[in-house]
Amino acid sequence: MPDMARAPAASPTARGTPPQAPAGGGRIGCANVYKWFPGGIVLEDIGLTVEPGQFVCIVGPSGCGKTTLLRMMAGLTEPDHGSIAIGEDVVTGPDPRVAVVFQHFGLFPWKSVYRNVALPLQIARTERSELDRRVTEAIATVGLTGHERKYPAQLSGGMKQRAGLARALAAAPDVLLMDEPFAAVDAQVREVLQEDLLTLRARLRQTIVFITHSIDEAITLGDRIIVMATRPGRIIRDLPVPIGQPRTVSQVRRDPAYAGLREEIWDLLRQHAESRAGDQ
Ligand SMILES: Nc1ncnc2c1ncn2[C@@H]1O[C@H](COP(=O)(O)OP(=O)(O)OP(=O)(O)O)[C@@H](O)[C@H]1O
Ligand SMILES: [Mg+2]
Repeated sequence: MPDMARAPAASPTARGTPPQAPAGGGRIGCANVYKWFPGGIVLEDIGLTVEPGQFVCIVGPSGCGKTTLLRMMAGLTEPDHGSIAIGEDVVTGPDPRVAVVFQHFGLFPWKSVYRNVALPLQIARTERSELDRRVTEAIATVGLTGHERKYPAQLSGGMKQRAGLARALAAAPDVLLMDEPFAAVDAQVREVLQEDLLTLRARLRQTIVFITHSIDEAITLGDRIIVMATRPGRIIRDLPVPIGQPRTVSQVRRDPAYAGLREEIWDLLRQHAESRAGDQ
């Protein structure tokens, strides 16, 4: 297992460095990636480079392989062909520079917010005062100061998701991989979390890959949107979001580019769903 305790000190995201994108450390490169499962081919020829500090959203129909792609970036599943690199290093397993935030929070119910956030640092045997500083800072970043001693059952869905995000931030990774992190909360809370993430964005240096089923959410948050189709799962379009940062949810909705981009993505997804139906 890699020495996670020392990784942040050697990493460009270590505290004390100015809040800017890591110089290359957070770049994600997928080249010619294929994945097969017993049911057939799941991902075909995925080529994708995400620049350090970029926020990329991935949208696509259910089953097109979004989670599989994310798991490969995280080193939790191996590609059957091609390769994925984080910075200069080919991914061969979980990497301390990469944190994953899943839909269902992944919090341990018997641990307090503080202890949940501290867990990866404890596993990495981070020194006590360093751990305390990073956990306290991450909890403050997501607005959970004062709730450190609470247990997950005492938190709302939105607060649980913030605690999950704090855990990823405390680990100080270069790359945050988020798989439908807001799908399990109601629409109002979701919008608050989107607003939070947009505000946080200015202070985060991480490269972020964010999977969502919501086209609106992808346009709201992303610098760039990757549209996928299914059977086999593949990238069909790579669209820049021509809306500047910092932004707010309502600014995005009012932006003249918003409606056109939304329609373009809908059309793409519809066309591909129709051509598939036509094949059958
Ligand atoms: N461990 C596995 N073994 C066999 N097949 C799998 C496995 N994991 C995923 N699959 C198949 O791979 C395909 C892609 O799954 P994946 O979960 O990556 O899709 P997704 O795009 O994330 O879908 P959703 O939007 O529903 O989350 C699906 O057909 C799924 O059944
Ligand atoms: Mg999925």
